[in-house]
Amino acid sequence: MIDNNKKKVRIMAFAIPPVPRPEHVSPEQVIDFDIYALQAENGEYQTLISRLLHARDAPNLLWTPQNGGHWIASRAAVMEEVLESPERFSSRQISVIGPMNPSPPFAPLQIDPPDHNQYRKLLGLAMSPKSIEVLGANARVLAIELIEGFKKRGECEFIGDFAAHLPIAIFMSMVNLPAEDRPELLRISELLVRNESLVATLQANQQLSAYTMQKIAERRANPGDDLISHLIRAQVGGAPMTDHTLIGMINLLLLAGLDTVASMMGFFACHLAQDVELRQQLIVDPRLIRGAVEEMLRRFPITNLARLVVADCTLAGSVLKAGEMILLPTAAAGLDEQRYDNPQDVDLQRKPCINATFGGGAHRCLGAMLARVELNIFIEEWLPRIPDFQIRPGTELHVHSGSVAAICQLPLVWGVT
Ligand code: HEM
Repeated sequence: MIDNNKKKVRIMAFAIPPVPRPEHVSPEQVIDFDIYALQAENGEYQTLISRLLHARDAPNLLWTPQNGGHWIASRAAVMEEVLESPERFSSRQISVIGPMNPSPPFAPLQIDPPDHNQYRKLLGLAMSPKSIEVLGANARVLAIELIEGFKKRGECEFIGDFAAHLPIAIFMSMVNLPAEDRPELLRISELLVRNESLVATLQANQQLSAYTMQKIAERRANPGDDLISHLIRAQVGGAPMTDHTLIGMINLLLLAGLDTVASMMGFFACHLAQDVELRQQLIVDPRLIRGAVEEMLRRFPITNLARLVVADCTLAGSVLKAGEMILLPTAAAGLDEQRYDNPQDVDLQRKPCINATFGGGAHRCLGAMLARVELNIFIEEWLPRIPDFQIRPGTELHVHSGSVAAICQLPLVWGVT
């Protein structure tokens, strides 16, 4: 079992003093919003974001003095415009707090079009339908093994006992890493995404890069048929990539696929534990699972994206200045009542509609298909084995909020016959 004790501690926001409102920001746009310090009760993270950002008459573009001062897009349409306009909004910086940006930078995520696509294509090879099929088959075996392992106990801590295992196993097999490296990698990635302090984050970043560099050196000495060896051999613009770029790419693959999937599964499990009717529907007709996954992806977005304004411009009627940052809390897009009727409801009849859960524009998530496969496997294998489960009574659910929001611990219980 993965040790989650650390996660019980409420993560403190970074102690960055608020900054004064710039003149070009109107007073009506100001909101005191710290993405690193949101206190969502009962795991209702997305609802909290929507409540804060979608207040009646609130503008579509807000500004907070927290974390250095930055813009916040609060509506799906504004987020889409930002994600589809890299000439105005660059992904060179993907955190509103400058020093929190990954080093080496994540490729292709932190590379703007047109160069971006050359790097994206290389990672795309790992996401071919054939590769996803193989990764999915292995993930299914592991999912069954895990569920069967704790089913008779009548309880589990869902995140540590189940959700965290699938994505790390997939990453390890995608890049062909030895299973014994798993605890170390989990430890480092955990430190990185939990953002306990700036210093701890930077240290964890260095540890991850050192680990990745070591693997690159091993594959240079003994090339194989795996993704890392392939990336080492690949050419971009007629030349091999530097170690710096390679590290950024492999680090991205690990972090992009790990916490996101585990966190999404956590929100799905939390909802399923409380929605008896939905569970019943999916048990009676498992063909509904695919659509339920899509609808829950819309309902429970977890990422908070950020972009750097690279040219003075206007957005949603406001003037933005080059050098400013804009935050895109995707939960506010998924729960945007200007886009969806009754957005709080998980409604299997809802017509599928493009959403921001996997981002948009050139950087739309490369692992979306793989993530969907993992989420489907979870529900397909869980419900027939543990059809009736609930959150342990009396549990206080804590959500950690940052670039990815996640329920820290989710204790589930069920009857055992
Ligand atoms: C439910 C799970 C996931 C969610 C919610 C998610 C979400 C996202 C989002 C919102 C972006 C866009 C980031 C931005 O524009 O700043 C993104 C990009 C990316 N994701 Fe995912 N992701 C998930 C799973 C995965 C998995 C499993 C992988 C791979 C193993 C992956 C790999 C990537 C990569 C490589 C990019 C960068 C694409 C580019 O820059 O062209 N993601 N993801």
